[in-house]
Amino acid sequence: MLKFTVKEGHVLRERVDAILVGIYEDAGEKGPLAAEVNRLLGGAIDKVLSRKSFTGKVEQTDVLEARETLPASYFILCGLGKAEKAGLEQIRQAMGRAVLRAREMGLKRIGVSTNSFVCGTENIVAGDAAVAMAEGANLALYTFTKYKVKENGNSKNIEEIRFVEDEKKTVTAVKKGIEKGRIISDSVNLARDLINHPANDMTPTILAESAKKTAKAAGVKCTVLSRPQIEKLGMGAYLGVSQGSEEPPRFIILEYNGGKKGEKPVVVVGKSITFDSGGISIKPSEGMGKMKYDMSGGAATIGVLRAASMLRLPLNIVGLLPATENMPSGSAIRPGDVLRSMSGRTIEIISTDAEGRLALSDALFYATRYKPRWIIDIATLTGACAVALGSHAIGMLGNNKDLKDRMAAAGEKVWERVWEMPLWDEYAEQIKSPVADMKNSGGREGGVITAAIFLSKFVEDCPWVHLDIASTEWIDKDRAYMPAGPTAIGTRLILQLLMDAC
Ligand code: BES
Ligand code: MN
Ligand code: ZN
Repeated sequence: MLKFTVKEGHVLRERVDAILVGIYEDAGEKGPLAAEVNRLLGGAIDKVLSRKSFTGKVEQTDVLEARETLPASYFILCGLGKAEKAGLEQIRQAMGRAVLRAREMGLKRIGVSTNSFVCGTENIVAGDAAVAMAEGANLALYTFTKYKVKENGNSKNIEEIRFVEDEKKTVTAVKKGIEKGRIISDSVNLARDLINHPANDMTPTILAESAKKTAKAAGVKCTVLSRPQIEKLGMGAYLGVSQGSEEPPRFIILEYNGGKKGEKPVVVVGKSITFDSGGISIKPSEGMGKMKYDMSGGAATIGVLRAASMLRLPLNIVGLLPATENMPSGSAIRPGDVLRSMSGRTIEIISTDAEGRLALSDALFYATRYKPRWIIDIATLTGACAVALGSHAIGMLGNNKDLKDRMAAAGEKVWERVWEMPLWDEYAEQIKSPVADMKNSGGREGGVITAAIFLSKFVEDCPWVHLDIASTEWIDKDRAYMPAGPTAIGTRLILQLLMDAC
């Protein structure tokens, strides 16, 4: 298990396998650590820079052997990018690449100082840098090997990242920072684990058990409703999705009360389809296996509640996960069927593959019972979002400018950026039904928007924002601190929004 430690001292005096040295791109002047290392190694950094194989671009790394007079074995040069663009994201990326390089080399103990990653950048304080460094390292080193039975055991692992700081005051700030970064990144990695499990091992029942276990360990209350209770609530839309599956639905409720008694909670609703086959409107077989990721919103919600509780945020927060499979069978819903939602509104089914909004509609309406300060939903809702925004922006729609502004600001900070799309009335035309109050699909045009318009009908007058993560919840290629696979995106985003709301 990766361990973070902090001590006062000078990093060059540490007996570690490698020391990380941050370097800005095209900087006239190196930071103090880089300058010192350069001098100790007889101008080795200058030599590397003049060869241009390493220029300090963000995500670049290079390795120098240390001299025998030093206790460390290697220096890993970490590109921080252009100094004028310096920010926490550059630090996360640089740290991610550095630890991956160290792991590749089979190294175990890494020494680092926050100073060498913020060198000269006055607007980044050591505590914030430490959060970003812990996150970058812990997120980058994530692996999921549960099902690689024969490959387990011989994988390389970094054991310790030692922060060595030159002042007592910094030590205290860095300690706090890495604790926070650890909680947040562990919560993201926990969500990644949930998402990575194949659907046969992540049924609604198993998801509920996992939620309970996590909740218990983090001091969060967890209540799980099963079919009779869900029926009693009248959640006909959500139950409609589940009726074709052999796996029973589970409505998971997480409650964390860190705020004042009676203070309005923030309710987070996560789409939790443990497998989306499309139902009778079945999906093409190619790539269908990816639909085990259709509970990414729910996984992020569990991560948010865990971290919020462990960070003791002074807020009341509720997480709702309407978990179910979407399967075709003799008992499945059909196109043309009409369902009655908990809100009383009736829904004509156009496509059984537009199941997310059905499950969410009842969960959103249930959320209004809390008289919440905000409702945030997070969902792998539409393929249209992937077409519109690709894999770098989360689709955002909502009915409250203040909440959307806060979300956008949080997104910039954690680099889980959102892009707004309109929620104009004109689009509601597309989901008008001749037989029911609305239909569950507005066709191909503006698919992100019509899905969100559908959801908007169920939040009453509550301030609400919807995050469509269909395009960002999963990546094909490794990024600096995101290995290919589920990103658990939205976890850090919603947490940042909550932290900023305290
Ligand atoms: N879970 C899918 C959306 C999705 C697609 C997520 C690809 C990630 C990658 C969702 O339930 C779905 O099937 N949506 C349909 C809606 C349509 C039938 C209106 C879609 O996007 O095709
Ligand atoms: Mn679907
Ligand atoms: Zn789906």
